[in-house]
Order: sequence, then C-alpha cells, then structure tokens
Amino acid sequence: MILILGASGELASLTTAALHTLGNTEAVRLASRSPAKLAANGAQTLFADYDQQDSLEAAMADVSKVLFISGNINNDARLAQHLNVIAAAKKAGVSQLLYTSFQSPSLDSAFDFGASHAATEAAIRAAGVPATVVRNAFYAELQLMSLGHTLDSGVLTHAAANGRFAPVSKADLAEALARLLMTEGHAGKIYELTGPELMSYTEIAKLISELTGKHIQTHEITPDAQIAALSQMGLPGFLAKALGGASRAIAAGEYDTRSDDLAHILGREPRSLREVIAAALG
Ligand SMILES: NC(=O)c1ccc[n+]([C@@H]2O[C@H](COP(=O)([O-])OP(=O)(O)OC[C@H]3O[C@@H](n4cnc5c(N)ncnc54)[C@H](OP(=O)(O)O)[C@@H]3O)[C@@H](O)[C@H]2O)c1
Repeated sequence: MILILGASGELASLTTAALHTLGNTEAVRLASRSPAKLAANGAQTLFADYDQQDSLEAAMADVSKVLFISGNINNDARLAQHLNVIAAAKKAGVSQLLYTSFQSPSLDSAFDFGASHAATEAAIRAAGVPATVVRNAFYAELQLMSLGHTLDSGVLTHAAANGRFAPVSKADLAEALARLLMTEGHAGKIYELTGPELMSYTEIAKLISELTGKHIQTHEITPDAQIAALSQMGLPGFLAKALGGASRAIAAGEYDTRSDDLAHILGREPRSLREVIAAALG
C-alpha cells in the first residue's frame, strides 16, 4: 500500500493523479487534514495531521511506501511535525519514506527552510528508516504568481542580484515522485530534481519579453525591501522572511547547480521555464 501524506496539497494531488495515469496497480491511501476535500478515485481516504502522532500512526498501518510532503509552517514547528512523521514511519516499519526536501539543504543556508530540510534529512538518517530524498528546486510555477503584474507594469522586480537557479515544473516533480513510488531500488538514494536550465532574473525577463513581445525590464531591490513589501501585502512574517532569505541564497549562488536526475527518472527532458510560462500564457 502507498500512503500519500498531505494529500490535498498541489504536489501531492498531482502525484496521486500521476500514479493513476502511469497505471499504478498498488493500493493507494490518501491522508490529509481535510479528507473531505479529496477526490478519492478508488483510493482510501483518512484524516492525518503532522501535529497528531496518533493520526500518523493510524495512517501508516499496513503501508509499505509513504510520500512525505514537507510541511508549510515556520521552521521550528515544521521540524517538530517532520519528527512526528519520521517516528510514525519507524514504528510502522515502512519500506520507503519518500521525502520532498529542497535543493542544497543546509543549516547555514540563507534560505530559512534550507535548515529544516537539512535537519529533517539528518533525522531520517538517524532514525534508520529506509528513505528516498528528493531535493526539489524552486517550482517554475512560482514565476507565474507575479506574471500578470509583470506584464501590466513591464517590470520584473526581484531581490536575487545576478544569482541563477533552475526552476522545475511541479507536474514533472509529481511524475517523478509517482515513478519513484512505483519502482524499486530507491532506498538510500538522494535525487536532485532541478529544471533543465539555470536562469537569472535578467534571463527570465528576457524570456517573458520573447514570449509576449512586450519589453520587460528588471528592477532589483534588496532582500530587506522584499521582506517589507511581502509583509505589507499580508504574508505571514516567517514566510516573508523566508522568501527574502531565498533571494539572498540565490544571489549567493546556493542554487547555481542543475542535475540530470529528473531527466533520468522521467526518461525525457523535463519541461523548461519557457514551456511552463508559454503554457500559462495559452
Ligand atoms: N520547491 C518549491 O519551490 C516549494 C515552494 C513552496 C512550497 N514548497 C514545499 O513543498 C511542499 C509541497 O508543495 P505544494 O505546492 O504541494 O504545497 P501546497 O499545495 O501549499 O500544500 C501544502 C502541503 O502541506 C501539507 N501539510 C501542511 N501542514 C500539514 C500538517 N499539519 N499535517 C499534514 N499535512 C500538512 C498539506 O496537506 P493537507 O492540507 O492535505 O493536510 C499539503 O500537502 C510544501 O508544503 C512546502 O514544504 C516547495
């Protein structure tokens, strides 16, 4: 039995859909804080919350493989949640805990969440649970969030200097997760799941200009100014700070690497940022 944790989230939902499309024959159980929201499509559904150890233990009964979607709150609370998941997986004796980590995780990262991912990976190793870690790059879809504003204003505002990163399509990540759940031989492995190309914001502005025929210029602000602007827009403080830190980390070159792991898992080239933006533009 395959268990999908955090099943109502976007990456988890896409992975569940990919399991179906790829012809998975193993039973699937979907666990979420909001099971009523789930489209079951033949899968079992149940409640599970990373804050409630007993709910995780119940969800993992008779399960061999677990998709462990990283949580989405502040670092300390997130790590406590992750330790609950790891303890439940150890107790259940699962054969594969598939954790969605982040590229270049480090306790010293300028990106706050890099530390909770590094600590989670270390906790998984320490627990001795058979695990597969995927280190996801920044989602390409993050670049769509400001696309409307960029097109209206003609300006792409960022705080990442000339730093480069390799945006990756969420649909490709989901397909890779499904393939890793459907095949054997991944225990103990770490896969670096990046998009195919390294890009700076100057290159992204150029790409949007090419795709739309509209001249887009970049406007660089400081990470502190980004944090202030995001807070003013109503983002929770921890998230605004993390996103400012992400810009600092990009500028410092923490994500200036790409990998072919995703292409190997998919058996094809992953989607480029150009393809993701072009699809969104329709
Ligand atoms: N690589 C990137 O660029 C990037 C960007 C943003 C986030 N992320 C990370 O990747 C994860 C998945 O991304 P996404 O786009 O699918 O995010 P999303 O759509 O916002 O979903 C958030 C996920 O976190 C789960 N979750 C949060 N708190 C939980 C709790 N207490 N108990 C159980 N599940 C909990 C949710 O599960 P339920 O609501 O179903 O319980 C859901 O699957 C995020 O949670 C975050 O850690 C990565």
